Amino acid sequence: MLTIFPEWFTGPATTSLLGRARDSGDLDLRVHDLRRFAHDRHRSVDDAPYGGGAGMVMRADVWIEAAEAVWNDGDVDGAYRAGGQRPRTVLLTPRGRPLTQALARELADEPRLTLLCGRYEGIDERVHELVATDEVSIGDYVVFGGEVAAAVVIEAVARLLPGVVGNAASPCDESFSTGLLEYPQYTRPAEVRGHTVPEVLTSGDHAAVDAWRRERAEALTRRRRPDLLAYRQESDGEPGPGPS
Ligand code: ADE
Repeated sequence: MLTIFPEWFTGPATTSLLGRARDSGDLDLRVHDLRRFAHDRHRSVDDAPYGGGAGMVMRADVWIEAAEAVWNDGDVDGAYRAGGQRPRTVLLTPRGRPLTQALARELADEPRLTLLCGRYEGIDERVHELVATDEVSIGDYVVFGGEVAAAVVIEAVARLLPGVVGNAASPCDESFSTGLLEYPQYTRPAEVRGHTVPEVLTSGDHAAVDAWRRERAEALTRRRRPDLLAYRQESDGEPGPGPS
C-alpha cells in the first residue's frame, strides 16, 4: 500500500483478525510512505492544477516512481514498469468501480495487490492511465482520502484468504451470494427487556427454521434493498456473484 499517512494504518493493521493474519503469515501487508519518493526537501507530492482552479493535484511522476519501486520490491532494474507489465494495482477513488463481495473475491485470488491511497482534491490523470489497473470506490460518498477505503478493501479481501480466521462461510457472506440480506439472529438470554425470541427458533423444527429465515431475509431485502432483488430476478433467482 502507498499512502502519505502510513501511520494511519497502525491501528487497523495490527489489531484483531488483520493483526493475527499478519502475525501468522497468512497476510503480508506492507505500508509504504509516498513522500519517500518526493523530489524536494519539503517532500512535496502535489502541485497546482494545470488550467487553474482551487486545490492541489498529486503528481504523476512521484506516484509512478513510488509504484515502480513497490512493484519491484525496491529493485530499480526490476521488471515492472508503469504502463507496461504491472501487478494488480487498485487506486481508491470515489469515481471507481463499486466494491462488492464479488470484487473482493476477485481481488483475493490475486497473488499480490498494490493499493494506492489518494488525497487532496485529486490525482494527475496519468496515474490513472499508467499506474492503476483498477479504480475502486467504497460507496457513493466522499471521505477525506483513500486510506479508509484501502482499509475496507484489505479487510474484505483478507478474510477470504485461506487460513485467515473468519474465512468460514458466515450468514453475512451467504447474504451476498444469495442476493438477500442477512436474516435476524438471536442468542441467550431468551428474553431481553421484554423482547423475546421468535418461537420457531426454539421449536427444533429445522425445516420451519429454514423457511422462517428465508422469509425474513426476503422481507428485509424487499424493504431495504429492492435493488438486490431486481438483480436476482434478472439472473433467474439463481444464487450468483451478486451485483458488481
Ligand atoms: N476517496 C474518497 N472517497 C472515496 C470513496 N468513496 N471510495 C474510495 N476512495 C475514496
